[in-house]
Amino acid sequence: KNVFVGVDIGGTTVKLAFIDEIGTIQHKWEIKTAREEAGKYILRDVSESILTQAKELGFKKSQLLAVGVGAPGYIDVENGVIIEAVNLGWKNYPIQKELEDRLQLPAVIDNDANVAAAGEKWKGAGNGADNLLAITLGTGVGGGVIAGGEIVHGEIGMAGEIGHITSVKSGGASCNCGKTGCLETVASATGIARLAMESVHTKPQGYLKRILDEHGNVSAKDVFDGANQGDELSLSIVRDSTEHLGFAMANLANALNPEIIVIGGGVSRAGTLLVNYIRQSFDKYAIPLIAKSTTIKIATLGNDAGVIGAAWLAKQKSAH
Ligand code: BGC
Ligand code: NA
Ligand code: ZN
Repeated sequence: KNVFVGVDIGGTTVKLAFIDEIGTIQHKWEIKTAREEAGKYILRDVSESILTQAKELGFKKSQLLAVGVGAPGYIDVENGVIIEAVNLGWKNYPIQKELEDRLQLPAVIDNDANVAAAGEKWKGAGNGADNLLAITLGTGVGGGVIAGGEIVHGEIGMAGEIGHITSVKSGGASCNCGKTGCLETVASATGIARLAMESVHTKPQGYLKRILDEHGNVSAKDVFDGANQGDELSLSIVRDSTEHLGFAMANLANALNPEIIVIGGGVSRAGTLLVNYIRQSFDKYAIPLIAKSTTIKIATLGNDAGVIGAAWLAKQKSAH
C-alpha cells in the first residue's frame, strides 16, 4: 500500500504517521525533541526515523509517496522555509530542501494550524467545508483559514496568524511575537495559566489557591476543572478568555464568512463548556446573519489533525 508521511513538529515532540490516500492512519509514532536540539538535528532524527519505521513495517521506499510537514511558526510555503518559529528557536531554516535531500522524496511544509485546518476539513469536524477557520489553543494560539477550498497563505505565507490579533489594547502581557496584548496571551494554555497565577491570591479560600498550594502552579486544565465545578474565580477566568476568543472569532467571521469554526489544541479538551462560552461572546460581536449561519465545533481529530493535514498536503503536492 502506498502512503504519505505526515509530520507534525511541536515544541517537545514530533508526531509522525504513514497515511493512505483516503486519509486513514496506517501507523503513527512520536519522537521527542529537546529544545537545545533545534534545527537540523531534529530533521536528521525525523528523516532517520521515517526510514527506520518504513523498513520495520515492510514498506518499500517506492511506497512512500511524499512528505508533508506542519511547523509552529511563520512559513514561507513557496520556498519551503521556516522564516521563524519562536517556540523552537528556528530561523530561516530551509526545511523542505533538507527533507527532500535526506529522504529523496517530495516534501511540503506549512504552518501547524494551517495543516490542522486541512486535516479537520479532510477527515474531521470540518466535514469537507470549503470555508473553514481552525483555531488551535495550545502553547500558542494558531489559526488556519480555508477559503474556497484552499488554505489562505497571503503575500509572504503568514496569513492566519490569528493568535496575534490584538485583544488587549493597552497594558496587555508581552507576546513571543514582539507585541503586547495578543489573543495568544489570554487564550493559549500558557495565557490562561498566567491569568490564573495573576489572580489566584485574590481568592485565598478558592479552588485554584488549593491547587496552587498542592502543585506549586496552576494550569489551564485546572482552570477548566474549576469552572466545571462552579468555582467562581475559574469561571471568571474562562469568561475573560472566551470573551476575547469570541470577539476575535466573530470579527474574523464577519470578514470571511466561514461555514464552520473548528477549535482544536490541548485546551479544546475543555469541550462543551469552552464552546458554550465562546458562542455567547461570538454571538455578541458577529453580524446576526453570520452568528446564525456559523457553526462552532471542537476538533474531532485531536492530536492527529496535524499529521493527517500534513499527509493531505503531501497528497496535493504529489498530484502536481
Ligand atoms: C505562532 C503560530 C503557530 C501557533 C501555534 C503561534 O505563536 O505564531 O505560527 O501556528 O503559535 O503553534
Ligand atoms: Na496559520
Ligand atoms: Zn503575538
